[in-house]
Amino acid sequence: MSVTPLSAARPDDALDPAAMRQPLPDAWYCVGESRLLHAKRLRAVALNGEQIVLGRGADGAPFALRDRCPHRGMALSKGPFDGDSLMCPFHGWRFGTDGRCRAVPTLSSHDAADFSRIAVQRFPVRESAGFVWVNPSLAPDSTAPAVPELGFEPAGSVVIALEVEASFDLTTLSLVDPGHVAFVHDSWWFRPSKELREKVKTFQPVTHGFVMTSHAATKSSPVYRLLGGVPDVEIEFRLPGVRLERIRAGAKRVANYTFATPLSENRTLLTNALYWSVPALNLLKPLARPLMRQFLTQDQQVLQHAQSGLDRKPTMVLLGDGDLPSQWYFRLKREALEAARAGRPFVNPLERRELCWRS
Ligand code: FES
Ligand SMILES: [Fe+2]
Repeated sequence: MSVTPLSAARPDDALDPAAMRQPLPDAWYCVGESRLLHAKRLRAVALNGEQIVLGRGADGAPFALRDRCPHRGMALSKGPFDGDSLMCPFHGWRFGTDGRCRAVPTLSSHDAADFSRIAVQRFPVRESAGFVWVNPSLAPDSTAPAVPELGFEPAGSVVIALEVEASFDLTTLSLVDPGHVAFVHDSWWFRPSKELREKVKTFQPVTHGFVMTSHAATKSSPVYRLLGGVPDVEIEFRLPGVRLERIRAGAKRVANYTFATPLSENRTLLTNALYWSVPALNLLKPLARPLMRQFLTQDQQVLQHAQSGLDRKPTMVLLGDGDLPSQWYFRLKREALEAARAGRPFVNPLERRELCWRS
């Protein structure tokens, strides 16, 4: 992908363009809801072209292994898991949740073959905000951006996940792109007015990203009205593809989190989680689910069409303040890659700024 920023140009030759096209290798990616990981059950997921098998060990801790038996490549997720070891369904080799080969049942007592050094790749895994996060990089000195935390005890939540046939970058840009909202998300319940209005918002850098704070949210939005009072809204973008919208009205808290996960080069998972602290909002759960699905489907459709355009010609023109957050995404990503390559700490290249656009 070549991007033409029409302002603040920066030489693009500092980094291999192929690396810029890849999702960040050393980062935590959302691979699904925590509640879907049950004892004695395995789950197969895709992450950045890799097949991964997820499970929960006897101690309740999640584990993530490459979903490939070293013997002849069989998917370990297709075999049984007794809570302690996974058995490959092809020839019965057994592996611990740490990936080490524990038994090769076809070996006789006369066979001197040693299987103790055979292991399946194990990936770092974490749980946070109701999700499982896997870091596909095996760097021992990882400096990956922190996994998102929720910061309050939710009374309820709704999660919607959709696969988008588009690259990770294009999908992630939609998380920081104010310009598409009026055109793509034009449902009555989200945008009662069709008019474009001038917006002025202050953005400041935070660790591995940037945040927009505003103190007088659009009162006309029925979603906000449900909370009562004038809510404070804070929207953070954080590498690799994480958007954290936090809404506070007095002691009431709502969080709307969106995560992009690269499944393969041209498939990205978009996960949207809405959490609230007020038990009364549980009544709206049946309503929230279809609306959130509609919202995410709007992104999915437009991203897929845009991807076919980019497939024909992989260039973008980023124009005006409304496209600055998109440029910032690429700057943050470039800095993360350069810092990793040089073995130095990440330094956020962004500055506090006011942006004006119409949306
Ligand atoms: S392929 Fe797994 S045991 Fe043979
Ligand atoms: Fe969107």
